Amino acid sequence: MNMKREIEIFESTNGLSQFFGELLLYEVNVDTEGEYFSIALSGGSTPRSIFQYLASNFKEKINWEKLLIFWSDERCVPPESNESNFRMAHESLLSKVDIPASNIFRIKGEANPIDEAKRYSEVVRSNISSPNLLLQFNLIMLGLGTDGHTASIFPGNGDLFESNDPFEVSMHPETSQSRITVTGKTINQAKLVTFLVTGENKANTVATLLNRKKGWDALPASHVDPKNGKLLWILDNKAAAYL
Ligand code: 6PG
Repeated sequence: MNMKREIEIFESTNGLSQFFGELLLYEVNVDTEGEYFSIALSGGSTPRSIFQYLASNFKEKINWEKLLIFWSDERCVPPESNESNFRMAHESLLSKVDIPASNIFRIKGEANPIDEAKRYSEVVRSNISSPNLLLQFNLIMLGLGTDGHTASIFPGNGDLFESNDPFEVSMHPETSQSRITVTGKTINQAKLVTFLVTGENKANTVATLLNRKKGWDALPASHVDPKNGKLLWILDNKAAAYL
């Protein structure tokens, strides 16, 4: 088990967002190895307020031109859809900071899912570093579903932690919506993985995972264990209520 697991808990979303901004600022600045800093953005609703905070408070602080923007997952919908993770990130952050369009690698939710998973895997292979031939993101942001899913790796998708392809197609178990998701090995090869989780509706799942309660290791998020990287849980006090 990765002993480099840390947990940070915050009273407010602003406090959590300030911490994440300072973390990103530090990691981008301290990473002098590569010309660029590769980050995979998480989706869903949690990141929106964090991205808005970054746009307001870190616009001038972070050297956005150094970032290469990818996604941890995407819904197979057009970019203008209100379900699009790209649209959410573009509206709340990317359209508000000085980052070249060429640094933004959108997952094409409108494309054929199988073709897009293959295409995007190649885009990632071509644009991020691969020390020891292992694809390594500088930072992968993850969210957590109440069912313990992360990215779009849902319960029963254990095979997505064995795949050698960095991105694969998955399907939301309730809506049957196709998704393009980062796979487990790529997550666990990252230098830094952050779970950003807020809200009381996540408290049970967070406690099951972090307190290793009965059934914890059946949850997809339990398999996130960066082998040579750091795992950081960034929670608000509501999500951390049962720790
Ligand atoms: C997505 C996400 C997914 C999300 C969790 C939490 O595309 O929906 O990648 O893994 O992070 O479902 O979603 P909320 O932030 O909306 O609770």
